[in-house]
Amino acid sequence: MSAHANNLMKTILVLGIETSCDETAAAVVARGSDGKGRILSNIVRSQFDEHKVYGGVVPEIAARAHTECLDRIVAASLAEAGISLADVSAVAAASGPGLIGGLIVGAITGKALALAGGKPFLAVNHLEAHALTVGLTDALQPPYLMLLVSGGHTQLLFVESVGVYRRLATTIDDALGEAFDKTAKLLGLGMPGGPAVEGAAASGNAARFDLPRPMLGRAEPHFSFAGLKTAVRHAAAKVAPLSHQDVADLCAAFQAAVGASVADRVALAMQTVSDWFPEGARKPFVVAGGVAANKALKAVLAGVAEDHEFSLHVPPPALCTDNGAMIAWAGAERLVNGLTDDFAAPVRPRWPLDPTAQPAQGAGVKA
Ligand code: KG4
Ligand code: ZN
Repeated sequence: MSAHANNLMKTILVLGIETSCDETAAAVVARGSDGKGRILSNIVRSQFDEHKVYGGVVPEIAARAHTECLDRIVAASLAEAGISLADVSAVAAASGPGLIGGLIVGAITGKALALAGGKPFLAVNHLEAHALTVGLTDALQPPYLMLLVSGGHTQLLFVESVGVYRRLATTIDDALGEAFDKTAKLLGLGMPGGPAVEGAAASGNAARFDLPRPMLGRAEPHFSFAGLKTAVRHAAAKVAPLSHQDVADLCAAFQAAVGASVADRVALAMQTVSDWFPEGARKPFVVAGGVAANKALKAVLAGVAEDHEFSLHVPPPALCTDNGAMIAWAGAERLVNGLTDDFAAPVRPRWPLDPTAQPAQGAGVKA
């Protein structure tokens, strides 16, 4: 029996390592022969304190912090799962896209463990891990339409199968999480910006400020958030010095504008892909990435899904933000599909899921 066929027969255990940005994470995930997943351990150490004073993630500090604690976090994830390295079926490490220093730390550690344990190695695309997380949480398999909204990316993808992604849209400037973070910063709120803006918006009046709804009605479902962030800055300057209520109202208005813009873009993509699903089949719509933790956005997207007869799937917040379980799960999915990597697999600071996608007009480096 081939290794590939053998893997399909039994439960596999995958150790996953995530170091692409400012979270050092490791996890062990089990994947049964029925394709269902289970998290045995999932340890995330945020580098929040190391970067706080700089108002953003400092790549060199991130890499050093990963170096200092990754060994311990990997050991803890194995211990919590109640297994040793000998028990895992494979080792997966996020190998891009992300900050190169951190990626090197994670990938080299993953390769060393795989080599020492005589296990297959999987160089996982961090975006693919976000894209496949619903397989772990909801046992949902492709095809599905997906909105990926994180600190570095904002994309609409058609997930055809494991390893096959069609990018339908991307941001032409800032990522949505980045827009939340920059808005938080300019309003004097803490990091990470997304939860801070969401928290402040809860007691705000969105109608007080008339902010633009970027890209509304455009023929292609791309996104843009840089102008919205600038509009918040101008609105804030007009009412400065800002009271607690001013900040709350600005956050609520920002979140409402984001919701309207994203809803319009998603609705367009839903119209486009509706025909790509088999007649009569339920059409799944997945939202993932750190910003998927935002309750206001989730509520708006639930409405859009309802209107277009899609079912909404959003992993729980702890699995939407960066974690090792999503890397382990993507590794497991790749392993059963025979998609292992050799030790020469590079780390890739840029690694688009759809290599055929053309740059969107006006796109910055993140697209
Ligand atoms: O996926 P993620 O953990 O890391 C990246 O791969 O980028 O996403 C982090 C981003 C940050 O920009 C953070 O502010 C945003 O997700 N975020 C949120 C919320 N929680 C995290 N944005 C809006 N509302 C939230 N509740
Ligand atoms: Zn991420």
